[in-house]
Amino acid sequence: MGASTVALFCGLVFALLVLHGVDGSVTGVSTRVVGSGYKLVSIQDLKGGDGVVAYLEVIKETPETLGKDIKRLKLVARYQSGERLQVHVTDAESERYEVPQMLLPREGVESVESTASSRKLGPVEKKGVLASSHPLEFRYIAEPFGFAVVRKSNEEVLFNTSSPSDAGNGKPGFNNMVFKDQYLEISSQLPYKSALYGLGESTRPDGLRLAHGRQYTLWATDIGSWNIDIDLYGTYPFVMDVRDGGLAHGVALMNSNGMDVDYGDDSITFKVIGGVFDFYFFAGPKPLEVVDQYTQLVGRPASMPYWVLGFHQSRYGYKSVEELETVMRRYKEVKIPVESMWSDIDHMDHYKDFTLDPVNYPVEKLRPFVDNLHANNQKFIMILDPGIKIDSNYSTYVRGDKLDIYMRNATKHRYVAQVWPGATNIPDFLHPKSQEFWSTEVAEFYKVIPFDGLWLDMNEPANFCGGPTCYYPPEIEVCPQIDECCMICDNTNLDRWDDPPYHINSLGVHRPIYAHTMAMNCEHYNGIRAYDTHNVYGFSEGLATYKALKEVTGKRPFVLARSMFLGSGSYAAHWTGDNGATWGDLQYSIVSLINSGMFGVPMVGADICGFNFLTNEELCIRWTQVGAFYPFSRDHSDIHVGPQEFYLWETVTETAKFVYTWRYRLLPFFYTLMYGARMTGAPLARPLFFAVPEDPRTWGIGDQFLLGTDILVSPVLQAGQVAVNPYFPAGVWYNLFDPKEVIHATANNSFHSLEAPLDKINVHVRAGAILPMQETAWSTAEARKTPFSLLVALPPESDSCMSASAICDQVDIATGELFVDDDDQLQMEIKDGTATYVKYQAFRGHGRYILTANVTEGAYALKKGFVLQTVSVLGAQASPSSVLVNGVAGAAKVNFNNRDSSLTITNLNLPIGKSFEVSWDCTTKVALTI
Ligand SMILES: *[C@@H]1O[C@H](CO)[C@@H](O)[C@H](O)[C@H]1NC(C)=O
Ligand SMILES: *[C@@H]1O[C@H](CO)[C@@H](O)[C@H](O)[C@H]1NC(C)=O
Ligand SMILES: *[C@@H]1O[C@H](CO)[C@@H](O)[C@H](O)[C@H]1NC(C)=O
Ligand SMILES: *[C@@H]1O[C@H](CO)[C@@H](O)[C@H](O)[C@H]1NC(C)=O
Ligand SMILES: *[C@@H]1O[C@H](CO)[C@@H](O)[C@H](O)[C@H]1NC(C)=O
Repeated sequence: MGASTVALFCGLVFALLVLHGVDGSVTGVSTRVVGSGYKLVSIQDLKGGDGVVAYLEVIKETPETLGKDIKRLKLVARYQSGERLQVHVTDAESERYEVPQMLLPREGVESVESTASSRKLGPVEKKGVLASSHPLEFRYIAEPFGFAVVRKSNEEVLFNTSSPSDAGNGKPGFNNMVFKDQYLEISSQLPYKSALYGLGESTRPDGLRLAHGRQYTLWATDIGSWNIDIDLYGTYPFVMDVRDGGLAHGVALMNSNGMDVDYGDDSITFKVIGGVFDFYFFAGPKPLEVVDQYTQLVGRPASMPYWVLGFHQSRYGYKSVEELETVMRRYKEVKIPVESMWSDIDHMDHYKDFTLDPVNYPVEKLRPFVDNLHANNQKFIMILDPGIKIDSNYSTYVRGDKLDIYMRNATKHRYVAQVWPGATNIPDFLHPKSQEFWSTEVAEFYKVIPFDGLWLDMNEPANFCGGPTCYYPPEIEVCPQIDECCMICDNTNLDRWDDPPYHINSLGVHRPIYAHTMAMNCEHYNGIRAYDTHNVYGFSEGLATYKALKEVTGKRPFVLARSMFLGSGSYAAHWTGDNGATWGDLQYSIVSLINSGMFGVPMVGADICGFNFLTNEELCIRWTQVGAFYPFSRDHSDIHVGPQEFYLWETVTETAKFVYTWRYRLLPFFYTLMYGARMTGAPLARPLFFAVPEDPRTWGIGDQFLLGTDILVSPVLQAGQVAVNPYFPAGVWYNLFDPKEVIHATANNSFHSLEAPLDKINVHVRAGAILPMQETAWSTAEARKTPFSLLVALPPESDSCMSASAICDQVDIATGELFVDDDDQLQMEIKDGTATYVKYQAFRGHGRYILTANVTEGAYALKKGFVLQTVSVLGAQASPSSVLVNGVAGAAKVNFNNRDSSLTITNLNLPIGKSFEVSWDCTTKVALTI
């Protein structure tokens, strides 16, 4: 839920402007006006030899279009572990704002020490190469200064900030590096054909790839995500770049100031309104390796409690506890499991955080409701907004006031914003005492309602007014319309923070950066301005909330947050905000999901059936089918539209029952993927180019996604459509729901047209996969207690097996893994007694199939009594005559189904915590036992 009405209003205006093609071109910046570039004046090796420190001087001061050039710059380039190269450029003489270390701890450049002797500077045009054993190489040209990053293995230039026109080849150029107090510009040459991804957060009708000619503005904004191509809630200055042949690398700019990024035909330009250039280049070369290297720097995705994988129900506008009860009851009647109920601002007393409405949500009613949810293994998640109502009778406000942790305006008074509760102060989450404040409030409220997670909305931070001068007329006690500004503002005389020399293209209309948020000259406790920290405000609240939950519950926290930044994924999951109930929004949700995963936030989903606008039956059917496979799966809608719970339409109910049965059966698979994300950053939902980067046809596919490497989801995303033509990576794919449907895909036969009637979604499992599964249940907690099974998808041909030769001995033909843990533990990690990891492998040879389990730290699974009961084999050839379990024949029941060539071995009763071997022969065909 956002500032619905306000966002709706603004959104309509801006959406119209966007539709009518307001061009993204930028005022006041034409080539060669803003800067003449820099020249290298000295360069020294770093001690330890892993980089250089260089000093640059401006070549010629240029007219002060966007402010004075900073005369002397210091550049540090260094090779780091994790296949990462850092290039950091700042003012040589004075310190500048950088992303706070308390949010994103990393090795600072202040500590770098150089050797005493300078490198010899050759003739100015000479190239300098910095030798190293790193896969990337830093090169530079002394004057005008430019640097390049080259992949050594193939000499491919990944980044080159020298203008091509300086090479005297007649090519049109771009500005050499510009570095002013409030305007930094740097460009890189790029091949036209490279495929770029990232630069969030925005809704992308263009599809997955960044589009030439577009400008991407990075500014945290409270506006509905149903608005396309504009800066939304989060900001991620991160790009993944895939080149010919499928080699990928990544570029992150560690800078939280507002910026425009222009993607030209053969260049990319960063135009930033403050901070420093702090680039990180990640060598890849596989897309997953890029995400691995990037999340090593910004932080691995947060561990998630198991229940987060269940189905969640939410709505802005549940009027009372009774209504919550009704919703839960009706879901139960139609036999759809609801893992959790969510509460939007409806439960608050006059929209004050940490309070309950005494009439509609009195504690005497809400508490038993929540206790009852807990008794049924269900959860309750509550919303929080950062703005704290100014009210001397409101204990939260008073405690914050005493600790003095609210943001101040330019004259050091408390800054007043207007949000849902009216006049509010905004906590300064960088303040050393803000953690104490927030933890206390969370702890006090937890005593009242023991919620299971917190949902952070409005944390851009949003403000229905905005700007430095607004004041709340004393005569207004309650705003007549709570979600419209009723303060008085006169933003005509603005300082250089609220009106900087360069106006980023917010909302595609250069909306002032103070609009709809706090004034840019607001200060944190240490004098840092909102101008610099705006894009990490949500991060700071997310981190404080994570820490508070950890302290209060002593368990693994769950935070769902709206405004995110590089590294926020270490603390929070994300939903794509206020989308719309349109077919377009359903389509774009997949790109948003994929992008979030690439940014290090793999636990992500879009509001199923759409938040804004009235949904409809067909859309809701299709959305439910896809939404059941989103990493985070929640139905949520706006107060201004009708309800959209799954039970409201029989067809939606039917489809939901089907897909969620499968989701719940696949929970161990999803959870193991989440563990993988925690370990390596690997997203749960991945684009096809992650699997087949060498095939350029996959580069733009944004209407399908993979879950890990083994499940491919190919949904219908258009009204009236009853067929799809999805791409399949080369190999054999079984329809998960009906394995007699088998797709044989080759590099030359990748697209396969498939039927997709209204009640059907196409989901396929890759031959070569072993999926851990359990049974469905009313809650994830109950599902976790059911017996495990393995779905072993074999490649169907088995010549070598039939000939009983040893050729393929020990070459696994299918693999899978399982991670189970006690999710009260803070982190997902393989740890003695609290977690178990199992690697499954299937081999073929000597006329037998052999399935092995190799267990690491089995004690936890043994203690929990987890057992594997069933192995289902897809692509089996015949019914085996003997099945051996750890070398012994007997107990297992075997059933071969020749209609879909599946073999079911059950009654296994094997402890998950113990390694085992199950084998069966495939040399003889025996009578079928269906
Ligand atoms: C970078 O571009 C400049 C200008 O086009 C060119 O002279 C230089 O060789 C390039 N650097 C590399 C490493 O290709
Ligand atoms: C605070 O609460 C008291 C007692 O309930 C009430 O009389 C007073 O008007 C309240 N003050 C404000 C500012 O709401
Ligand atoms: C800061 O807030 C105070 C109190 O609301 C107000 O009087 C003052 O004008 C504000 N300062 C600026 C620079 O807007
Ligand atoms: C795909 O087609 C190309 C050219 O049409 C051919 O050279 C190649 O062998 C084919 N590959 C496969 C796997 O069939
Ligand atoms: C089991 O896994 C461990 C750790 O990965 C490995 O060292 C060992 O060789 C594996 N054992 C078998 C039988 O595959």
